[in-house]
Amino acid sequence: MVPTVEWKDGAVRILDQSRLPDKVEFVDCRDYETVGIAIKELWVRGAPAIGIAAAMGVALGAQAVKAVEFDAFRKAVWAIADYLAATRPTAVNLFWAIDRMKRRLEALQAEPIPAIKQKLIVEAQAVLDEDIAMNKAMGRHGSTVIGDGQTILTHCNAGALATGGYGTALGVVRAAWDAGKKIRVVADETRPVLQGARLTAWELMQDGIPVTLITDNMAGTLMSQGRIQVCIVGADRITANGDVANKIGTYSVAVLAHAHGIPFYVAAPSSTIDLSMPSGDKIPIEQRDPREVTHVRGRESIAPDGCEVFNPAFDVTPARLITGIITEKGIFKPSELAEKMRLR
Ligand code: MRU
Repeated sequence: MVPTVEWKDGAVRILDQSRLPDKVEFVDCRDYETVGIAIKELWVRGAPAIGIAAAMGVALGAQAVKAVEFDAFRKAVWAIADYLAATRPTAVNLFWAIDRMKRRLEALQAEPIPAIKQKLIVEAQAVLDEDIAMNKAMGRHGSTVIGDGQTILTHCNAGALATGGYGTALGVVRAAWDAGKKIRVVADETRPVLQGARLTAWELMQDGIPVTLITDNMAGTLMSQGRIQVCIVGADRITANGDVANKIGTYSVAVLAHAHGIPFYVAAPSSTIDLSMPSGDKIPIEQRDPREVTHVRGRESIAPDGCEVFNPAFDVTPARLITGIITEKGIFKPSELAEKMRLR
């Protein structure tokens, strides 16, 4: 799999996902402002990948800070952190990664500035490496919920592209595939940004994992025909009570799965779990540009000029519709998630 985000030759190299699947192109971000634009414009997207990009953005910005005293250095790095934190509101991994970088900075305050700069790069790299390790652990736990011969429905892209590598929901699929299970993925196209059509279908085809693309409104029909055995999606933020914010349309899939008695799983690392937030109604939901709805890929218009648009990028699936949450620590019922995550 091509790397989604990496530290390369003193820059943050980002695979520009807005161009997929037509072009595989990388952008070398040489300042933190460009990393911020990359997050906002969805060149890099998916909760864990956004967190990794932000951690690297903090490290990158820190390299250019001229201050020689720690207090002035910290002030400048915090301003960079604030800028990056203002890019997207819903995925908690962004704030988790930025907080981690700030804590690391604090812990290093007795060291010379050049050493701190270097160690911030090391920390950002650790965020990336640990993300891949968590995805692989999720794969090991989660592959048990997929039976041989089953078809899995997924929504949006919770794959290698949305993470440091391997993927969350698609990491579980990959692990089942690698274990020799003959499986198939049904990918919702995921209007309006088409992460399912452009990214999930592409990513699975790269790995030779069978995938069938459907439009979002076809999921119910497939379920009613007995052609879906399990649903697995990713998450942008999971609250203490087990509610899950994920790409708009996830809630509809969960309702449909519930109506058809199909298990509905969410795969997410602990960096996506926000135990400070009691329930999903508190999650800030990003509203995006109306053009995502009125135009296909920013080009062809499909609506009358001036048409009023509603474009929330995420919805919240209540805990009661979720069979289990697959984490790197194991699979938990939404109601036991907070306790299990605090204990382990
Ligand atoms: O707007 P996006 O593409 O960043 O939204 C991504 C999703 O909603 C994913 O499903 C989610 O981040 C899980 S990714 C492992």
